[in-house]
Order: sequence, then structure tokens, then C-alpha cells
Amino acid sequence: MNTKNPPNVVVMRSMELEAFIGAVADRIVHYLEAADSPGKVSEGLPHASLAKISDLKLPLEGNGSDAVLDDIDAYLLSCVKTNRPEFMNPLWGGINTAALVGEIISTLTNTSMYTYELAPLATLIEQAIIQRMSEIVGFHGGVGTLTTGGSNGNMLGMLCARQVIVPNSTQTGIDGRSLVAYVSSEAHYSVLMAANVIGIGHQNVIKVACDEDGCMQPESLREEIERTRREGRTPFCVISTAATTVRGAFDPIREIGDVAHAEGIWHHVDAAWGGSSQFSSKHRELMAGVEFADSVCWDAHKMMGIPLICSAFLVKDAEVLARVCSHGNVAHYLFHEESRNIDAGRYSLQCGRRNDALKLWLAWRECGDAGWAAQVDRYMDLAGHLETLVIEHPDMEMMSSRMWTNVCFRLTPNNYSGDLNELNSEVRKRLMSSGNYMVSRSNIGDDVIFRAVIANPKITNESLGRLVEEIGQLCDDVVKGLPY
Ligand SMILES: Cc1ncc(COP(=O)(O)O)c(C=O)c1O
Repeated sequence: MNTKNPPNVVVMRSMELEAFIGAVADRIVHYLEAADSPGKVSEGLPHASLAKISDLKLPLEGNGSDAVLDDIDAYLLSCVKTNRPEFMNPLWGGINTAALVGEIISTLTNTSMYTYELAPLATLIEQAIIQRMSEIVGFHGGVGTLTTGGSNGNMLGMLCARQVIVPNSTQTGIDGRSLVAYVSSEAHYSVLMAANVIGIGHQNVIKVACDEDGCMQPESLREEIERTRREGRTPFCVISTAATTVRGAFDPIREIGDVAHAEGIWHHVDAAWGGSSQFSSKHRELMAGVEFADSVCWDAHKMMGIPLICSAFLVKDAEVLARVCSHGNVAHYLFHEESRNIDAGRYSLQCGRRNDALKLWLAWRECGDAGWAAQVDRYMDLAGHLETLVIEHPDMEMMSSRMWTNVCFRLTPNNYSGDLNELNSEVRKRLMSSGNYMVSRSNIGDDVIFRAVIANPKITNESLGRLVEEIGQLCDDVVKGLPY
């Protein structure tokens, strides 16, 4: 099997196709199973070294299908093993097998989500997902769309807010100099990017003061809005975060919503990270009041473990989103009047759009709400265990109270007289080079901290014990001046 035909003709006979797909399937199974045996999460290679040992050339003459398998092997060898229990760096990790299969089938049946005509069952599946997520949030009768991520969901929330305050803005554009949005000082940076894209600029995003746990203070929000009005500017959007990226803090959504609505301002909730708390009867209180918000974004590719990308934007008033995404009747080659009510492309800023619905739907059908709830509760228990290990460790200290599964800590060895930021950075560097664990290096105020996140089904109490042990050992080495 070494075909070198042009890519746009059928290159394999069915026997060859079966052997090829079988060989790929073997690799997938091997990759999944390897996560249960000892191994590294990353090779920790600097980019210059990886570039040197990798064959990246795009050939003039094709290499044939055998080479595809070799290329896959090389890729799998050097990729970060995000399905291993030691992978705890970003707000996602692990693999949901039903969703993985959904991803493969979506690609296999390659379509675009703009019209029912092209994506009939996929459209209905996406509608079912949006409807269920809206019910969970408390937006009965709301609509929404799957987006390219929480960043895009935050931008859609701000665009809806802009649409309400300047109803003709999709036609006329805006002079965004006087429109002002408000977020917690610990909000995700995507809000700044959205401010740029929608035309108000970073300087019109006001970062509202947080309390010591990293939650936005409603009273400070009220004062900032008053100040804005005194300056002759126009508040148009308040964004609550549930939960914040570094500390996992939940803003007091109900109180913030009350302030926003008393002032006639749109209230968007960035629940990209914490949205899944709503499945759990133990933890859903964290998002109390979300049902009164105007829009919400919620990433299924974070705590629900759906492969990236899978993210929902939900809005109470369907008409606002339809107006934000309106494009007149210019796309006559796609959109027809008789399918106006079913074509998902009327609620999206994208034209071509992947089917991200199938993978979430398959996973949800497999485990049900109860499965998601159990997963959230388990992650919270694991985070509690890690917090206890940190508190009990003589050289470690928690750097923030814990509301969600972000565990923020740092090394503070007794009698250490050096710079703690340098010590923590050096230990984290050694941890990364070892390839044994991946946790994030972040900052709280001026302090460099470790942020370990529980969002990966492979994590266990034992793997967390080994993490704390390894960080403690690396710290000893650095304190003793041992080279790596
Ligand atoms: C609180 C919060 N909002 C939004 C985002 C952006 O989400 P995405 O990466 O899906 O664009 C993140 C990403 O980590 C986040 O932590």
C-alpha cells in the first residue's frame, strides 16, 4: 500500500482502506491505553530541538499512504499527552470516549451547520443541546448556538448588549468611544479581545475591584457605573465570571445582575469554566441567579471533557441574537424563506461551521445529567484532597480560598531566605522539563503560584499525592542548590 495518486481521486481500494483505517484504529487504541501505564505527559523538548528532529517538509512529490502512518506515529510520540492523569495545566484534559467517536463521525460526515438542508439531524441535535443547556441555566424558551469557544461566546454576549443599546449597530456600525463594559478585575482576557473586535477598545472595559477571594464586588460595580455616567459615557454590558480562570472564583451573579438590571444594562455570564457546576445539586448554588441574566457562555470542552472545540452561547431573547447575526437576504444560495425557522446559520456569526453538537450529544446520551453531576462532584472531592495535601505539606501554602477545582498554591519552605518567586518559577521549570506533570504557572497579585486544575477523569488521589511529592522533592533540590 503505497499510493501516490492525486489527493482528489479515490486512492485506496476497499481492502487497502480497511487495512489503513485498521492501522489508524490500532494507534488510537494504543494511545488511549498508554495513559494507564507509567509514562511522561510531555517530552519537554525546546522548540529548536523538536524542529531539528522532525521532518516537516511539504514534498513536491507525495510520500504515499504508508508515510501517513509514519507521520501519525511521529506526531503521537511528541504530542503532549493530554489524556494522562498528570496533565493538569489548562481548564480541560482527558478524553471522553463517546465524544471522541462523535468527533470522528462528525469529520467523517463532513458538513457545515448553516442550513438544515445540509445538516438535517445535526441541526436537530444542536437544537436539543441548546434547549437542554438553556433549561439548566433557567432560560426557558431561549436560543443559542455552538461557537468557537468561550472567547467567542463572550464576544457574542457583548454584541447582543451592543445591539440592545444601539439597535441599528449591525447596519451603521458604532462609534464605540462612549460605550463601557464592566468585568471583574480577574476576568478572562477574551473580554479585552472582544472589546477590540466590537469596536469599543480595551480602554472601555472597566475592571471592577474584587474581594479577597477574587469575586467581583457589586458595590464597586455600582460605583463604577455611576462614575461612568457622570463622565457622560454609556454603560452597556456587565459581565460576571463563573468561575475565574486562575482562582476559580464565582462572582455573586444574582447581586451583580440586580445592579446591572437596575441600571438597564445587559448582563452576560461567562460560565465557560464553571457552567458545569449546575449539574451538581451540591454545587449549583455557586451560580445562583444565572437564570436572571441575559446571556451565558458555557464551554463543554472544559469540565465536561468534550474534545475541543465545544462551547455554547445561550441567550434569553432570540430576536437579539438573530439581529446580531443578520445578513439580509444576500446569501440566497444558502438561506431560503421556507427554512427560516430551522436554519442554524441565522444564529451564528460563522458561515462554514463544524458539527460540534454530535460529540456532546453522544456523550450526554451515554452518561445523562447524573453522569455529569457525578463527574463534577468527583472533581470537587479531588480538588479538596489536593488542597488538604498542600495545607499539610510543611513547604507549601494555599494562595487563594478554593471555590472550584482550581488549586492555587506555592512553595514557602521554612527558613528559606531567597526570592520565593524565583524559587517557584525554577521548580515549575524543572517540573516541566521532567515531563512528569503539567500544572500551570500563574500569578496572584505579585506572587508566582502553581495552579493545578482538576478537569481530567484520569486524575486520582494517588496521582495528586505523587504530584505534591514531586514538587516537594524538586523544591528540596533547588533549596539545596542541586543542579537539574
Ligand atoms: C473564565 C473563562 N472565560 C473564557 C475563556 C475562553 O474560553 P475558550 O478557550 O473556549 O475561548 C476561558 C478560557 O480558559 C476562561 O477561563
